[in-house]
Amino acid sequence: MNEGPASNTACAIETIKDPFCIVIFGASGDLTRRKLIPSLYRLYINGILPDNFLIVGTARSDMTDKAFRNLTKDWLEKEGKKDFDRKRWNSFSERIYYKSVQYDDPGTFKSLEEHISALEAKHGTSGNLIFHLATPPHLYESIIDNIGSSNLQFSHGGFTRIVIEKPFGRDVETAKALNSHLLKYFKEEQIFRIDHYLGKETVQNILLFRFANSIVEPLWNRNYVDHVQITVAETLGIGHRAGYYDSAGVLRDMFQNHMLQLLALIAMEPPSVYDSRHVRDEKVKVLQALRPLSREVLSSQFVLGQYGEGQIDGNKVTSYRNESGIDPRSNTATFAAAKIFIDNWRWQDVPFFIRTGKRLNKRISEISVHFKNAPNHMFSNHPVDVTPNVLSFIIQPEEEIVWGIQTKVPGSKLCLRDAGLRFNYRDHYSFLSLDAYERVLIDCIMGDQLLFVRHDGIQTTWEFLKPVLDSIDGGPGAPFEVHGYRSGSWGPDASDELIGQEGRAWKSMA
Ligand code: BG6
Repeated sequence: MNEGPASNTACAIETIKDPFCIVIFGASGDLTRRKLIPSLYRLYINGILPDNFLIVGTARSDMTDKAFRNLTKDWLEKEGKKDFDRKRWNSFSERIYYKSVQYDDPGTFKSLEEHISALEAKHGTSGNLIFHLATPPHLYESIIDNIGSSNLQFSHGGFTRIVIEKPFGRDVETAKALNSHLLKYFKEEQIFRIDHYLGKETVQNILLFRFANSIVEPLWNRNYVDHVQITVAETLGIGHRAGYYDSAGVLRDMFQNHMLQLLALIAMEPPSVYDSRHVRDEKVKVLQALRPLSREVLSSQFVLGQYGEGQIDGNKVTSYRNESGIDPRSNTATFAAAKIFIDNWRWQDVPFFIRTGKRLNKRISEISVHFKNAPNHMFSNHPVDVTPNVLSFIIQPEEEIVWGIQTKVPGSKLCLRDAGLRFNYRDHYSFLSLDAYERVLIDCIMGDQLLFVRHDGIQTTWEFLKPVLDSIDGGPGAPFEVHGYRSGSWGPDASDELIGQEGRAWKSMA
């Protein structure tokens, strides 16, 4: 059956036909350097972008077009060494411009508008405009208001879209307020709320795997599934993002968005049609069925932690409180583990164990479905342990799907071994694979919102997390305990105790 690595990209990669201009707010920032420019460049050199496109970087500092081009060249040379192609760079860079704006000064947005109009005429981008907000979140509202008041979103005659990075708000109220700001000037179909985890290949494959393989779905429910584990572990600390991270913490940085989106995909019902409306309807329904966290159950269902010093890959690393820019008394959590239930017909009383943290033992993102044990231990008169089956979607560092099955060890004695049927993307598809950001940028330019998060989904996740957010933000009652953990470990012991309450343990098939 295995036909070896497929090399035909025709079915897999679309090329974009519509011309467009992307305006990046926060053009000198980290996200633009690490993700946006490298992704646009890779899409360009791989022939996915149309001939007529334009990148306009904006930020507060003054810079000439030439200086910005040099800066982006520097980034690409450093970050994407193997991809850098001097000849292609020259033609790419001819489409890059820079214009400074003061985010709270409508006058500078008016001149941005005039500048864009002139460039559009020169580059033939047909008035199609994408605004990408890659600034710190506290600037979103004034940028949106100034785009609106300078009529930037109307005057160009093509499509207009706005891309917002997470976190979308800090809680229910701020998310609602941000959404109202957006809706003053944009319609929902113009708003693209990014969660880059949804652009990862194995994450997208969850739905395809579940709903295109008819052997899977009959098992995907409380009759066969014992529990589900979702782990997103990072070895990195907070890098240079102290200011942002200390006010966000793990719950706002990872949990409300990436983790609950992964949960929604693994648990949702099949949509009647695979399109952005139906898929997102089903995701929202499952999020709305999350069993509310009352204050009483919080401490038995949620564990928070903060990294102390330790070792990562043999190198000594400092504690969170010692990171530059962090208050030495900070109680911000860098680790969270939770036991979550979904109150619906399919999942009633099946626990979903979710954990994520920084400075953990290994970089791994994995979702695993742990099936119930075989009903009858017919091997009880033999010295064998029957391990329950596990199906794992490994998202990174490798992209794999693994079925954990029991096999007989060859020989005259009855011995069983836990083996894995392993499907690794790299072995099967040799052609260009898209990075998560490249994938979401393509979809945004093509106007497909399936991989973007809808407002009702965001609202629901903030509502679900409210009791724990209130507790860490100093709401009434005792503050939530934040356990210390050693860098390079798997988080606080309390996380093992959380999953161990009924004899289960964290397990990886990677
Ligand atoms: C981002 C978070 O959304 O995701 C970061 O803000 C985190 O803190 C990152 O490091 C992880 O993404 P990835 O794709 O490297 O797993």
